[in-house]
Amino acid sequence: MSSTTEPDGPPPTTPLASASLASTQDDRDLLLYESRLERPIRVKAPELERSGRLRHLIFSGQLTVDLLEELGSVADVIRQLSRHRSGQDFLINLLHHKRAMLYFTQPSTRTFLSFMAACQILGITCNEVRNPQTSSETKGETRFDSIRMFSSYFDLIIMRSPIARLAESCAYLMNDLERSGNRSVPIVNAGSGADEHPTQALLDIYTLQRTFQFEGSTDSSLSTRFEELQKLPGCDGLTKGLANKTYGFCGDIGRGRTVRSLAMLLANYENVRLVFIAPDHPKLVMRDDLRQRLLAKNVTIHELSSFETLLDGKPVIEQLDALYMTRVQKEHDTPEDADCFAKIDFSRYCLSKNLVSRMRPYAPILHPFPRDQHSGEIPPEIDNDDRAMYFRQARNGMWIRSALLAHVFDADGQILRYFRNEFQK
Ligand code: NCD
Repeated sequence: MSSTTEPDGPPPTTPLASASLASTQDDRDLLLYESRLERPIRVKAPELERSGRLRHLIFSGQLTVDLLEELGSVADVIRQLSRHRSGQDFLINLLHHKRAMLYFTQPSTRTFLSFMAACQILGITCNEVRNPQTSSETKGETRFDSIRMFSSYFDLIIMRSPIARLAESCAYLMNDLERSGNRSVPIVNAGSGADEHPTQALLDIYTLQRTFQFEGSTDSSLSTRFEELQKLPGCDGLTKGLANKTYGFCGDIGRGRTVRSLAMLLANYENVRLVFIAPDHPKLVMRDDLRQRLLAKNVTIHELSSFETLLDGKPVIEQLDALYMTRVQKEHDTPEDADCFAKIDFSRYCLSKNLVSRMRPYAPILHPFPRDQHSGEIPPEIDNDDRAMYFRQARNGMWIRSALLAHVFDADGQILRYFRNEFQK
């Protein structure tokens, strides 16, 4: 497979099929799309839209700042409607005629369940294939045949796969079917190998949007109002919104797809700095393709190996506006990695009460979850801290995924109109 030097091109190390390995029809199917996968995101994105609306959601680069705002507002409305029986009844009838396939061939708890809950909120019927051993793939069926079959029975395919960019290839398959007059349905990427997890980034941004309104509501448990907060030491110059902030990411930066998708979205906001704190090992630090893409967006990045490294003359832990913790993705370790990682002191990449006490008073702590009880990157004693946002973040996933599904099925306008007419009179 050729590698690309285009900053917004695909990751060069993606384990897609390569010509020499194309021994099965599955491999040959993937090769069919290889030249399309190699194109920069800005060229691919329009093919994944219809009439200015997302048709397929494959990578976070499709989510503009304006669309993120729009989806966040719809999610807020769905959340409010869901507090009332009449609002719930309205929502559940909205997409009652639609069916979704959740095709998850990689472990998942939150993404799977929150998509299922999102479908249920909007009345979409769900079905699932989680174990390919129970499908005809064991009888030699190709993945593309499976996907095409799903599209015969369902109106939407939400998929998670260990294969990077399989979801993207499936979107092209659907586009080709559409072009030839066949049945075709939207594809939503719920995690593709080590590559992308756009809907996790979506819920991370939604959580940050709510937190940085500083309204002291459910997503920011701060009792201190914004105006008072600005007077606190170190908080002068604080602004509302996601711009003008320093975001920290800590842990397994190299292998975490959620970091990749979120960092790309944060880079779209004005005057943002991204700080990556990871053990100094080539597999754990940022991959070069992400570094190049971020630099091409002119965002300031710092790659550090400790919370104590100085940033603007102070330890970085004291300088962050938000901290995104991650788990070490041990399932990707090779035997050589395991030997090498044994020498790393991972406890330096775990939070403690003491570290949290040094963080800015409003700075949310996020984590895509699951957290690893053995590594302890976020010990449970932090859960009651005002800044611990991860459980609310996971619940936000349900609301923002509902908003996404409403957007894909062009039902968001109806939701906003109903809310205006029935709840804001
Ligand atoms: C993440 C994933 O699967 O990429 N979890 C999630 O979807 N919330 C992160 C992880 O597994 O570490």
